Amino acid sequence: MKGIVLAGGHGKRMYPITRATSKQLLPVYDKPLIYYSMSVLLEAGIRDILVIAKPEHLDGFRALLGDGSQLGISIEYRPQPVRGGIAEAFLIGDDFIDGEPCALVLGDNIFYGSGFTEELAHAKENAEKGQATLFGYRVEHPENFGVVEFDDEGNAISLEEKPVEPRSNYCVTGLYFYDKRVCEFAKQLQPSTRGELEITDLNRMYLDEGSLKVERLGRDFAWFDTGTVDSLFNVSEFIRVVQKNTGVKVASLEEIAYDAGWIRRAQLLKLADSLKKTEYGRYLEKIALSTRR
Ligand code: DAU
Repeated sequence: MKGIVLAGGHGKRMYPITRATSKQLLPVYDKPLIYYSMSVLLEAGIRDILVIAKPEHLDGFRALLGDGSQLGISIEYRPQPVRGGIAEAFLIGDDFIDGEPCALVLGDNIFYGSGFTEELAHAKENAEKGQATLFGYRVEHPENFGVVEFDDEGNAISLEEKPVEPRSNYCVTGLYFYDKRVCEFAKQLQPSTRGELEITDLNRMYLDEGSLKVERLGRDFAWFDTGTVDSLFNVSEFIRVVQKNTGVKVASLEEIAYDAGWIRRAQLLKLADSLKKTEYGRYLEKIALSTRR
């Protein structure tokens, strides 16, 4: 299964901070924002990853993440020159996906909560079986998002993008699992009135043919879409508190790769050494030297 991190967009809501850099390279407490979305793909066991970003930001992502071999994974890069919509990821990534099932995560989304790994495994199984899976989350202002409506049995029955009158309080988060037909479906999409290939239109194609699952993330789960300076600040504080209380880092790509057995102890120590002046580096060293594996 392949995975795409969509990390483009103009970031205008964060000017002047994002005038010269990508939003997804900004820090969320102790690591860049893109670590959090990337970690979701790694948690799902996906090791073939494509990062899509604005052409002028690709070098920054490459400098940060390289070709992935340091984590025992593969990372490729492709530009999205103009903001053509989230579903355009499947046109840009068509040759990378190469007819396999594929997950897509928005580079500005953050997921945190227990039981998520099992949910991801389930979504992956669905994708192998020809289905798509989305993740719904209860929010106070659904009108700012894609909105999913459920019937009494919990089945999704409608999807709307930023409706004026939302039919439920459940938004569709920026994590999507699709079967191998996804690029074919994306090629059939027409641009919306705002000139974008809408992810909600793609999801509706799966809904209409009865092959869409929507998993609801519970109240104990935290999901953030970091669209503004305030939301980025708030989630930094959230991550800081969680990490201080538990002593465990959220979205440490190096730790996930090590736990998955994709890199050995010597490689984790090497990565730790390259960060040794930081608390992050000392954390990795502690994991490498612990006897838990
Ligand atoms: O975060 C979840 C929401 O994301 C969903 O509920 C909506 O259905 C979905 O449309 C999307 O809504 P947003 O208003 O958050 O979309 P936005 O235009 O802000 O784009 C989300 C991220 O994707 C953002 O970091 C920029 C990136 N992006 C977006 C587009 C349209 C790209 O890289 N390229 C694009 O063409």
